[in-house]
Amino acid sequence: MNAEDATRPEGTGCGTFPGGAELFRLDTRVAHLNHGSFGAVPVPVSRAQRRLAAEAAADPDAFFLGAPDRLAAARTRIAARLGADPRSLALVTNATEAAHLALAALRLAPDDEVLVTDHGYGTVVAAAARRARTVTVRLDPALPDEEAVGKTVLAALTPRTKVALLDQISSPTARIVAGPGLLAELAARGVTTVVDGAHAPGMLADPLAGRPDVWFGNLHKWAYAPPGSAVLAVAPALRDRVPAPVPSWEDHRGYPRSVEYRATADYTGPLAAPEGLDLLAELGAGAVREHNSALAAYGAELLAGLPGVRPLPSDARLAMRSLRLPERFARTRPESDALREEIMARLGCRVLVWPWEGGGGIRISGQVYNRPAEYERLTRGVRSLLDGR
Ligand SMILES: Cc1ncc(COP(=O)(O)O)c(C=O)c1O
Repeated sequence: MNAEDATRPEGTGCGTFPGGAELFRLDTRVAHLNHGSFGAVPVPVSRAQRRLAAEAAADPDAFFLGAPDRLAAARTRIAARLGADPRSLALVTNATEAAHLALAALRLAPDDEVLVTDHGYGTVVAAAARRARTVTVRLDPALPDEEAVGKTVLAALTPRTKVALLDQISSPTARIVAGPGLLAELAARGVTTVVDGAHAPGMLADPLAGRPDVWFGNLHKWAYAPPGSAVLAVAPALRDRVPAPVPSWEDHRGYPRSVEYRATADYTGPLAAPEGLDLLAELGAGAVREHNSALAAYGAELLAGLPGVRPLPSDARLAMRSLRLPERFARTRPESDALREEIMARLGCRVLVWPWEGGGGIRISGQVYNRPAEYERLTRGVRSLLDGR
């Protein structure tokens, strides 16, 4: 245990996850408090991926000829870990690609509307906008709970709303938007539900809760998989309509093989992905989630003590917390990017800073490699940054 961790605040329920930091090769000079953006690959998973790359280098014919079947086997293992029907699932590269394929499967008429929210992820919302007319619901980041969020979304439906594309866990605000209650209400109104579960695999015990028509999630964030591994889950009636990203020799086999095999490409990420979920299970998924959430909550509590910083309503299941900054900070993307870089340059801390009219916010994550002292360092540093302006 690090000396500075010996004096952990009593009663906060957070501390150090035994062996957690050693599982990663992160730069130890930096406090990596932003697992939510790009994840980080644990050493055993990187090793598995390197073994696959060595196999491909040693006998490319064997590797690529066997890749479709191995992808199917990886998909089955991943489905079991996520509690998904393996027939519904396809391996894809990332959440953005999944959104693009999902929207392409929906065949919308020119007048049809896709409902999105202003908490939605930029590239995912852009995927919808390429295909259809989007209508954006504004969600006050301070809405008190999931129910209030749900009511706001339902109130924005119009007779032309055919699809609701909603975050399961929103990126800037770390809020649950598409909970099972809201999904049921939308289904009852005949609205097709598409859920961006980018953060759900690994973070939520039941990532497909509410069984939307289409759901997708990244495995490289909280499921410890290498980048380039994500999953798409599609209801039976829509499966045949999901286009293959490129034509391949697996096309004639239909969904999901036509989607997940994309000619000669790097398959080491998705093939190593089940190792990430296995590692999470070995560590104890429940213990990891508890640790991550407690640390993020601790960090949020410290930051909330700074003048003008307001915590957003949070959910105990989540490993991320978000707070609004005083009004003069991060009002635009250039301002939030500059503040993120200043926090890195001056404090050596990686966090997400998100822009918002009337003052943006800061999002922190908790992961097994983090310890309470890192959030204390962030808070001290942010205090002086805020004081200096
Ligand atoms: C909610 C949400 N959706 C989608 C994405 C996009 O993920 P990717 O870049 O892997 O497509 C992110 C990335 O952080 C996200 O937070």
